[in-house]
Amino acid sequence: MVGNEWDDILYWEDYEPFSRFCRELDCRYDIRDPIEYEKRRKERDAFYRRTIPTTAEFVRRFHRYALHGKPHWVDGHHKLINELAEEDLRRCYHYASDQNGAERVSAAEKARCGWASQHLTHYADKVCTPTGSGTHKIMEMTVGAGVGTNAVVRSMADDAVYIGVDIDFICAKNADAIGRYYGKRALGICASLWHLPFEDNLFDAVCSHFGLDECREIDTILDEATRVLKPGGKLVLVSRHNAWLRRHRIFETYGIGESQALDLMRQVRLYADFEQLNTLAAERGLVTADYIPFEKWYVAEYRKA
Ligand SMILES: C[S@@+](CC[C@H](N)C(=O)[O-])C[C@H]1O[C@@H](n2cnc3c(N)ncnc32)[C@H](O)[C@@H]1O
Repeated sequence: MVGNEWDDILYWEDYEPFSRFCRELDCRYDIRDPIEYEKRRKERDAFYRRTIPTTAEFVRRFHRYALHGKPHWVDGHHKLINELAEEDLRRCYHYASDQNGAERVSAAEKARCGWASQHLTHYADKVCTPTGSGTHKIMEMTVGAGVGTNAVVRSMADDAVYIGVDIDFICAKNADAIGRYYGKRALGICASLWHLPFEDNLFDAVCSHFGLDECREIDTILDEATRVLKPGGKLVLVSRHNAWLRRHRIFETYGIGESQALDLMRQVRLYADFEQLNTLAAERGLVTADYIPFEKWYVAEYRKA
């Protein structure tokens, strides 16, 4: 992975030179070494300054994305399904088949029993508690490394069904590995949250653990999440209070303060904060059922009327 959603926006008009530069950095520096990581970061910041020399140009690029940026995935970011090589397949099936998910679960369990223990208890309880009769159907957006997935799949009833969605095939397959480990009905599929491949009113619970604040076009994602949720079903989200906490450095590089940065993020349909999420949820007929704040993040539960 070379970039992130911000780089997609900033280099929307010409992504290839940026992508090439990041690949060069990846070859030159080992980011597991903190000193090399810092050197890489400085070089990357210098690239921003060279190619986006002024604050006006930085803001212009954001505004251009707001006008023209439609949900799409920029090359060089994550591996798309048609770019997978044999080695990628071997790696993800190795987690699921050869190891029965043990390595995935062991990494996710460290988080569940450590830094994420408090909020993951609430997340899993909310997602796994059935809202009606019949098979409890769960859809998790943004499987990623599988920290949220592990918490949900281990807690869900044996007859519940879990589908995890990620645009990155290898991440999606983490859900298969975790399902296999616990002997539960869990499957990951590679799809975009902008166009979910499910019929309307299908799931009892739709959820995401630190996902929405890493995706673009949260308006579209909430449209889709609401569409596939059954009436009376719940949407459970864990997110950071505020995107500024995560991204302040790049804005500070351009002398942009917190409130202006959050405004820019709202304009380009990136997650800004809980207030924005709440407004978007209410516009889609989702009713706030619970909100549990932690120091840097929160668990929110909405119900579809
Ligand atoms: C930070 S990770 C999520 C963390 C994960 N839930 C966990 O608990 O370990 C964010 C994930 O969102 C996925 N993603 C970002 N935008 C997406 C989109 N539009 N559709 C589907 N997946 C997306 C990325 O591929 C990445 O794997």
